[in-house]
Amino acid sequence: MTSYAVASGKGGVGKTIFTLNAGAALAEMGLKTLIIDCDIAMADLAQVMDVDVDLKTEHSLHEVLNSKVNIEDVITHTPYGMDVILSSVSITGFMEADMEKLREVIKDVAERYDFILLDTATGLSQESLIPVMVCDEVIMLVNPELPSIIDGQKMRLIAESTGKSAKGVVINRVRGVRGELGAKTVERLLELAILGVIPEDKNMISAVTSKTPLVIKKPNSPAAKAIKEAVKAIAKEKEGREGGDKGANENENEKRGRRLFGRRKK
Ligand SMILES: Nc1ncnc2c1ncn2[C@@H]1O[C@H](COP(=O)(O)OP(=O)(O)O)[C@@H](O)[C@H]1O
Ligand SMILES: [Mg+2]
Repeated sequence: MTSYAVASGKGGVGKTIFTLNAGAALAEMGLKTLIIDCDIAMADLAQVMDVDVDLKTEHSLHEVLNSKVNIEDVITHTPYGMDVILSSVSITGFMEADMEKLREVIKDVAERYDFILLDTATGLSQESLIPVMVCDEVIMLVNPELPSIIDGQKMRLIAESTGKSAKGVVINRVRGVRGELGAKTVERLLELAILGVIPEDKNMISAVTSKTPLVIKKPNSPAAKAIKEAVKAIAKEKEGREGGDKGANENENEKRGRRLFGRRKK
């Protein structure tokens, strides 16, 4: 199993949408995949998929993080092939959740999956940093604009301070308009390999509205094809590296990262 945190500096770049679609694309490739909504404050993943869970009455990641239920109680099979652990919008649940437990959550289910994708929060918070600290690999997501890249650089440096060097960058919402940064420039500025270039796709809005991954709703749409290509590149890279699984052990750099950002217990 390899776990990937989908991270960015800025919000709204497409982390949640990418996590959802990449999860479905990996499952379609026959890979056992789990996606986890680690953005326990905003909990957007539940909004973009049609799964049979009533988070008002049923359990979510929050209840695992505050030790009220077991991991088994929150894994949901989706109609898209992958499994999901959702977060709820409960404010009390959020306040009581201990993100530090995320490492255990991943360890507990590691044997069952090939891929675990962590949707992360935006900015500097436990919801954005802890997934980066506990994952095996970081996938940086940016839009092709300077502010997005600058915030991406910050996130990359933060990841490095916790001992994680990002695996590469996915550029999302590429429109091909004047002033947009090209893939080469993004690669140079971020010093990260390009894992994928996803175009702005007008089909995305209807996929989001119908709560269906675009790769399933419109598999031949430009963004769906690009997401599938990115995922193939990620899977291929993993395959090439397999054998030396690093696992989810805390190392010295991670401890340093923790000291750097403190341990604000909620
Ligand atoms: N490739 C794309 N083409 C068109 N719209 C997109 C694309 N990727 C994301 N979006 C839109 O951007 C919005 C924000 O994406 P989201 O995944 O919620 O961002 P984040 O999780 O980084 O805050 C979504 O509502 C989605 O409609
Ligand atoms: Mg999000």
